[in-house]
Amino acid sequence: MIQMNNISIHFPGVAALKNVSFLVEEGKAHALIGANGAGKSTLMKVLSGAYDHYSGEIYLHGEKVTIRTPKDAKQLGIQMVYQEVDTALIPSLSVGENIMLESMVHGMGKKQFIHWKSIHEKAAEILASLHVNIPTTKSISELTLAQKQMVLIARAVSDSCKCLILDEPTAPLSQTETEELFRLIGLLKKQGVAIIFISHRLPELFEICEEIMVMRNGESVMSEKVSETSPNQVVEKMLGKPLADQYPERSSSHGEHILEVKGLSDGNMIDHLDLHVKRGEILGLAGLVGAGKTEICKALFGEADTVSGEIFINGKKVKISSPYDAVRQGIVLIPEERRKEGLVVTESVSSNLSMSNLKKFSQMGGFLNFKHEKREAERMIEQLAIKTPSSETKVANLSGGNQQKVVIGKCIETDADIYIFDEPTKGVDVGAKREIFDLITALADQGKGVIYASSELTDILGMTDRLCVIYDGEIVKEMETKTTNEAEILFYSTGGK
Ligand SMILES: Nc1ncnc2c1ncn2[C@@H]1O[C@H](COP(=O)(O)OP(=O)(O)OP(=O)(O)O)[C@@H](O)[C@H]1O
Ligand SMILES: [Mg+2]
Repeated sequence: MIQMNNISIHFPGVAALKNVSFLVEEGKAHALIGANGAGKSTLMKVLSGAYDHYSGEIYLHGEKVTIRTPKDAKQLGIQMVYQEVDTALIPSLSVGENIMLESMVHGMGKKQFIHWKSIHEKAAEILASLHVNIPTTKSISELTLAQKQMVLIARAVSDSCKCLILDEPTAPLSQTETEELFRLIGLLKKQGVAIIFISHRLPELFEICEEIMVMRNGESVMSEKVSETSPNQVVEKMLGKPLADQYPERSSSHGEHILEVKGLSDGNMIDHLDLHVKRGEILGLAGLVGAGKTEICKALFGEADTVSGEIFINGKKVKISSPYDAVRQGIVLIPEERRKEGLVVTESVSSNLSMSNLKKFSQMGGFLNFKHEKREAERMIEQLAIKTPSSETKVANLSGGNQQKVVIGKCIETDADIYIFDEPTKGVDVGAKREIFDLITALADQGKGVIYASSELTDILGMTDRLCVIYDGEIVKEMETKTTNEAEILFYSTGGK
């Protein structure tokens, strides 16, 4: 159906795509995979008309077409749901209005008035055709991330949609939500819609896709039927080498309590929670998406409306009622919603990296030592393999996964006692995951206390020494990681007693 031929595109300092060709078939799901910064999003942005300065040709059903604007792409039935879900919807408008946005702006009929009834009717019709049950009058701000995703897909298919591009749609979703999304994809495939699916999770690509293309450094390095390849082969192609062990070795000697928490409450979901972390220990917070892990992390970091309870660091009672207090007392949080909470995307990589530790880079008179800042930034860029043309590049121009690495770098840069990681590997490729795991392990080996919150059970099992299973904001079970397994954690995560 679609043929992209020899697509190349340059940005200042980067050749993001080099002669990439890509074939899309009707009614099939195509997986697109590659390391962070490989060019996946860029290739799909070309197809959806986000750029006009690329070279190469695009054919639709054998006929050459011009795609230089989003409108061009939409008119040809090509729709894309971007990696950053939150920015694509208007939170103050209703579900129906968001789905019908396009026709509201460009007029339902010739008249200057919006026909609200038909807006909602049409939106409800689209949702029903996808078997999605969300009232069209509900406000976007009341929806879960998964529901927002559904609304975006509904909006995408509201016009005649022949090809739907989903850029890492499952990264923020829970397992059931992911299954719901896959059901929807199956339905669209049956209607003849071609799907292009970007994800770093290999198992799901193998589950729902027929075709797979692997990208590396702006090039296509493999195109294959999914049935004729294997996850190992794909990883090897994308990294250019076989993947070593996924998890680093852990030493099992731990010191005294570095953090002790008694009766932590956030005035909302968290109610009188106790936990502790020892020096050199990685404590896991396991639990499904929405179990309250993020809320616990935020409460520990003083980021909640009303935090109460007692917190002891190195045996000394401290008062933490804001993130500022937390950082001063030696607690750092690497937040889950990194783009929103962890970065200033309009600033350079180097200023983001130094941001939470300006003291280290200031000299007499309170001026910043830019040379020092730059040197440290370059060290971090190398250590974390952040793919960027230079330390002065704006963070907004980095690929999704590389933005994540900047946040992690920024937090590691601060010298704290306790590091809290909330879903640190969301959206990072398998190679970078290992680099991040190494950094976390190194922190523990230096005698820091680490809290590692994740809904990825294999990562929890591979990385932590001890774990607490969270269900509905409570610790329902505490276990030594060595003595448990995925099934047992899952049992407690789903409310099993
Ligand atoms: N608007 C832009 N300006 C400058 N450079 C850009 C821009 N968009 C992308 N790049 C660069 O192009 C390269 C490819 O980025 P892209 O976002 O396509 O990667 P990706 O494969 O989607 O990675 P991820 O898995 O991290 O999302 C990166 O080096 C990125 O920094
Ligand atoms: Mg991307």
